[in-house]
Amino acid sequence: MRIDILSAVPQLMESFFQHSILKRAQESKLVEIYIHNIRDYTNYKHAQIDDYQFGGGAGLVLMIEPLVNAIESLSEKVKYDEIIFLTPDGEMFDQKLANHLSMKENLLMICGHYKGIDQRIRDHFITKEISIGEYVLSGGELGAAVITDAICRLLPGVLNDETSALLDSFQDGLLAPPVYTRPEEFRGWKVPDVLLSGNHAKIDEWRNQQSVERTERRKGKSGRLEG
Ligand code: ADE
Repeated sequence: MRIDILSAVPQLMESFFQHSILKRAQESKLVEIYIHNIRDYTNYKHAQIDDYQFGGGAGLVLMIEPLVNAIESLSEKVKYDEIIFLTPDGEMFDQKLANHLSMKENLLMICGHYKGIDQRIRDHFITKEISIGEYVLSGGELGAAVITDAICRLLPGVLNDETSALLDSFQDGLLAPPVYTRPEEFRGWKVPDVLLSGNHAKIDEWRNQQSVERTERRKGKSGRLEG
């Protein structure tokens, strides 16, 4: 899989992709991630990429030409399955959408900034608009990072134990059960006996029950966890 990200502040994202699972996934050639600076595609003086909005109003808007230059130049080399715009008014990102996107070959993500991007980009180039939550961020970079992380851990071979992504919270509509590691007791707080019993049928049953209880509790709080 290949993921290209267009950003006005690429420095914000670079280190995120250079650690842990995402780093190993790239080293193993399971995913290629490229971050591009929108300023590299502008023909305006002083590397300008934004301007005041027509009709007045506060806030700058990302201009159409630099973005079109970037999209068209990248599209000459790569055929994108989706061109995604990160925006608070987009479709809500969830595990189902992560699963869906993880099956694509090539994704291009565009991070908005300032007041947004010229609407004509959305009308003529964007194939999917995604929000990572009902709040407004300063830009789409965190959204692109969240989505890339959620997608990459689903790619076969990225996690050491391939089944572990399948056991993640949300994959079966249930939250994951609690987990413990050494020591068995800390300040009198004990690991549940069943986990130390060696009885795998009992352990599975306990984990499943914990998942159901956690899910019920969370549903009760937000009313939003969907199966
Ligand atoms: N850009 C600004 N806010 C955002 C959000 N909530 N999700 C995705 N991109 C955004």
